[in-house]
Amino acid sequence: MEILQTREDIRTWRDKVSETVGFVPTMGALHEGHLSLVRQSLAENARTVVSIFVNPRQFGPNEDYHRYPRTFDTDRRLLENLGVSVLFAPSVEEMYTAEDEVLLSLTRMSRLWCGGYRLGHFDGVTLVLTKLFHLVAPHRAYFGEKDFQQLRIVEKMVEELFFPIRIVRVPTVREPDGLAMSSRNSYLSPRSRAQAVALYKTLQYIQTLIPKYMLTEPLIREARLYLTDRFPEVKLEYLAIVDEYSLEPVEHLSQTAHPRALMAAYIEGVRLIDNLPLTIPADSTE
Ligand code: PAF
Repeated sequence: MEILQTREDIRTWRDKVSETVGFVPTMGALHEGHLSLVRQSLAENARTVVSIFVNPRQFGPNEDYHRYPRTFDTDRRLLENLGVSVLFAPSVEEMYTAEDEVLLSLTRMSRLWCGGYRLGHFDGVTLVLTKLFHLVAPHRAYFGEKDFQQLRIVEKMVEELFFPIRIVRVPTVREPDGLAMSSRNSYLSPRSRAQAVALYKTLQYIQTLIPKYMLTEPLIREARLYLTDRFPEVKLEYLAIVDEYSLEPVEHLSQTAHPRALMAAYIEGVRLIDNLPLTIPADSTE
């Protein structure tokens, strides 16, 4: 595996490759969720590039940029063992100039849900991915469904900016108890780790309510009660049922063929997100 750190090196490498290139952008602290993206890329492309770059532009001023887990040596070994062709690990200076003034923003999707609480977060994601996509020029890029809003934003960006890249969705990888894998799970104390399953349990509970409720307002109200009863220490940020294409909330489940529940919550100060596609039984009439 080659480790490249500069724009020039990755461009030179890319110019020499004529086979298909798959790309997995990451911020490191790799876990089984990332590795499933890498494995899929390896299976579908002749070459796979993984980037590790903790992108300062997608963190708010009071967020965890400085304490974000950085485990480069372990990550490097994992990627090498899997058979990745290139690990691209640029510095901040390599990716952003001191006079950096480009803003790349999706006007609607980036402001919904997580975007309403993490102001500017998705602008930072779209900016860094635009830069990385230009440098790596992959045929396919791999994103986990765990960050579903990010995935939809990337799909929309690629479509609107005519990137010749296929975005591949990869299902969320979960711990045995259902907690979605995330680099930020390492922030959880044993006590908060025990509560962290609350998100998946609540999402699953929503699914069980669906034959009974087709209107989303009472459905969400009941799910919130479930969460506060069972997991009183979890502080809900948002819980929404949306159309998975537009990410807009739906009032009645019949309004969409593809409903998805999205949520974000804090447990002892650690922010977690999760989501689940919902199934509407064919005989639901309410
Ligand atoms: O999902 C992430 O890890 C990051 O948002 C990404 C896509 C690597 C962009 O920095």
